[in-house]
Amino acid sequence: MKRTTRLLCTLVSAAALLFGGAASAKDLRLGLIVPGTHAWSQAAQAMGEELKERSGGKYGVVVFPAGQLGSEARMLQQLQTGALDMAFMTTAELANRVPDFGALFAPYLVRDVVQAGRLLNGPAAQSLLEQLPAKAGVVGLGYGVAGMRLLLNAFPTDSVEAINGRKIRITPFPPVQDFYRLLGAASTPMPVTDVYDALANGQVDGVDADLELIWKLRLYERAKTVLQSNHMMFPVIGLMSGRVWAQLSEEDRALIRELSRKHLDSLTGHYEMAEAETQMSIEQAGIQVVPVGPEFFGDKLQQWEDAWLKKTPVLAELRREAAGLQQP
Ligand code: BEZ
Repeated sequence: MKRTTRLLCTLVSAAALLFGGAASAKDLRLGLIVPGTHAWSQAAQAMGEELKERSGGKYGVVVFPAGQLGSEARMLQQLQTGALDMAFMTTAELANRVPDFGALFAPYLVRDVVQAGRLLNGPAAQSLLEQLPAKAGVVGLGYGVAGMRLLLNAFPTDSVEAINGRKIRITPFPPVQDFYRLLGAASTPMPVTDVYDALANGQVDGVDADLELIWKLRLYERAKTVLQSNHMMFPVIGLMSGRVWAQLSEEDRALIRELSRKHLDSLTGHYEMAEAETQMSIEQAGIQVVPVGPEFFGDKLQQWEDAWLKKTPVLAELRREAAGLQQP
């Protein structure tokens, strides 16, 4: 081969590498605390597949479930520095940083996951997202739901007094801490991943959770009664690192936001369909499921409300919007 031909070949390969590199997918790393089988992880996966297709291969998403990248607090730090691109995480973690998010956890704000999905798409919940870049260094892409909260107890729970003095596993953040403090429980902060062993060795007597966690983490093997109170919604929030977001074009931002919202929003339909089946599976495993309503908690709910109306004006707005959802 002549020298000029060799030089040309080298230049062509270098150009192919350069432009080929630029055209290949940028993999966005997305972290979650829940296992890969959890509906949130599956929504993240589906979002990534659609993003790859719609961006013509420019973006892909690599999902890291089950806390592989650390706790949610740790993932939030990674988002802030830009070490992590995206996360689907509990809104609980944000409520620790931005107190107004606590209002989303008001007891009996919504009746079920369908109302939860609608309220989360309403003006009050959506306007909370605007606080995130300044207060947490992240961009809020949208919300989704998890199953409604209830209690899995290893003790008979015939009345609210039965919870008094019991060690109850909670996700540690202010609205839930206040709820269990008012019930007289010794709340025990713990990530979901540690709950099975804690129930098994008596470190906790009960767990604040949802039907999906009870089933998928096999918690039903370690307790007797599901107190099906459906006392709170438990939203997931799609987040993107503010630093990464700043480097994206408007077009790319719009696509990532659209698809994150779409797949987070699809969780409402998923849980609406799945909850009855999950409940049946739990009952077939020999667990008693006892439905209770707000009256079970007596005057504790009003005490929670009075305290939180003073903490955030967003609660009153959410209550107003939620009242509108009760109409047929
Ligand atoms: C929890 O801490 O209970 C939880 C975490 C992730 C998803 C749903 C619930």
